[in-house]
Amino acid sequence: MNQDQLKQAVAQAAIDYILPHLSRDSIVGVGTGSTANFFIDLLGQHKMEFDGAVASSEATAERLKKHGIPVYDLNGVNNLEFYVDGADEATEHLQLIKGGGAALTREKIVAAVARTFVCIADGSKRVDILGEFPLPVEVIPMARSYVARELVKLGGDPVYREGVKTDNGNVVLDVHNLHIVDPVGLESAINNIVGVVTVGLFAARPADVLLLGTAEGVKALKR
Ligand code: 5RP
Repeated sequence: MNQDQLKQAVAQAAIDYILPHLSRDSIVGVGTGSTANFFIDLLGQHKMEFDGAVASSEATAERLKKHGIPVYDLNGVNNLEFYVDGADEATEHLQLIKGGGAALTREKIVAAVARTFVCIADGSKRVDILGEFPLPVEVIPMARSYVARELVKLGGDPVYREGVKTDNGNVVLDVHNLHIVDPVGLESAINNIVGVVTVGLFAARPADVLLLGTAEGVKALKR
């Protein structure tokens, strides 16, 4: 199977996982990226079986609406059973690097609200130690240089993601050459830098379920 077929398989597995728990008034949290897009396209086939969705980006909101799925503002939603999203890296402890698509802040907010975070990823995303994928950090534009200097002190090599503005109007620094042995500690340290909006380390709040696409089929890892 190629990578797209693995993404398709985990998207289907996520549908199979959540569908039995959905009712006509359920709202589903939906992530951003190519794997999430496969999920959205499948979710569209079941739009009569739930109420609507909360989107982690403008791009996802657009795609959901094209399928006729109502998109709600998170502020008006007080019960979110599932959040389904991809990842750039995932460990066996279900800690993640996310933000390759620059949607990390809204992704982290929706993940925080959801009771169950279902991460879907092809097998290439599975790592023992996080950090080979450059760690995205969303930053208030005027703090970019200051935050970059602070990230260097933490051992990383930040690179400004040229030409990218997040849905929140901010910029992204991608931090290279990290070998993240203490994900919770690093998440907290980066969050504490003034000017940082969000770091794409999902360690303090990891996924609850990881559906991993492999040549042998979809493997489910749970916390
Ligand atoms: C977007 C994300 C994505 O989930 C992550 O980049 C994985 O994307 P893809 O499914 O395209 O590999 O965090 O901000």
